[in-house]
Amino acid sequence: MSWLVTGGAGYIGSHVVRSLIDAGITPVVIDDLSSGIEAFVPEGVPFLHASILETDAVAAFLAEHGVVGVIHCAGYKYAGESVRFPLVNYKANVDGTRALLEAMEREGVRRLVFSSSAGVYGNTGEPVVTETTPTTPESPYGESKLIGEWLIRDQVVATTMAGAPLAATSLRYFNVVGSGYADIYDASPHNLFPKVFFAIESGKAPQINGTDYPTPDGTCVRDYVHVSDLAAAHVVAAQRLDAGDALEPVYNLGSGSGTSVRQIVDAMVAATGTDKAPVEGPRRPGDPASIVADGTLATRDLAWAMRYSVQEMVDSAWASHPKA
Ligand SMILES: NC(=O)c1ccc[n+]([C@@H]2O[C@H](COP(=O)([O-])OP(=O)(O)OC[C@H]3O[C@@H](n4cnc5c(N)ncnc54)[C@H](O)[C@@H]3O)[C@@H](O)[C@H]2O)c1
Repeated sequence: MSWLVTGGAGYIGSHVVRSLIDAGITPVVIDDLSSGIEAFVPEGVPFLHASILETDAVAAFLAEHGVVGVIHCAGYKYAGESVRFPLVNYKANVDGTRALLEAMEREGVRRLVFSSSAGVYGNTGEPVVTETTPTTPESPYGESKLIGEWLIRDQVVATTMAGAPLAATSLRYFNVVGSGYADIYDASPHNLFPKVFFAIESGKAPQINGTDYPTPDGTCVRDYVHVSDLAAAHVVAAQRLDAGDALEPVYNLGSGSGTSVRQIVDAMVAATGTDKAPVEGPRRPGDPASIVADGTLATRDLAWAMRYSVQEMVDSAWASHPKA
């Protein structure tokens, strides 16, 4: 009996894999290594180097390892890039999720935890979003995550009608940063933390994109959460689905408070000890001004808690960042 983590060689998925092991749940991993790193998967964890689009291979792997549930982290996560490459984005996040659901249905796997995103909300105009805040995504990425949630919702309805219900929940992540292990880091070339670190290492000043947003200091406001806290919530979700408990269809994994990009970049600059002050650049397409989430529901049902401060997020991210 095991749980499959799709995208388990990625930044978040590999944290989830290690948290499952710590909780006594056996993980197995499928990853196409399009952005993941195989070395992030602990030795001894069964690993299939394949795309979730390969339904036959995924179904065979589910059967081979007696998979009872899936934590679906595989995906394309670049909101800004998705504006330029919508088809790449939809293939990974929509076609991929549909294909995974098909493989799960074929093999009778009836538990699913889905990596959704704050990107489903877009610019809500609300200071703090809850799960009932209307979803108005601003990028193909946010749209694709919302479609993923709809695919899952519809499959829950269909499988319930068929008498073999899929039990599923979608976790809407906010800005996931930090590291729980010295050897796992966010390798994304487009996310704020690695971009700032790479810039500083190459002797350049880090860039802040957009300083004319309607926010207190003009830069985007985001809700930063530590990846280890996030991984812990996945384990509880898996345990509760294993126990047959009903979960909400969606949960926000946010802290309820925001930090501006300028504040977080200043903290990164301080952590690295560089003398380069941040420079200001233009807005990126698809970036909402402010996203802060209420995590009350997740606290109630998934033991969601912010165990780490923003400073610890910055320090652990810098400590794990591979130095040039
Ligand atoms: N990092 C964040 O702040 C954040 C915020 C909200 C949501 N998310 C979502 O969380 C998930 C994980 O994000 P991450 O930060 O770990 O990104 P990541 O890029 O490090 O991990 C994604 C993993 O999925 C794999 N993958 C991509 N397409 C695949 C496919 N078709 N088949 C098999 N494997 C595939 C990649 O190789 C990679 O290992 C993504 O779905 C992302 O959209 C991330």
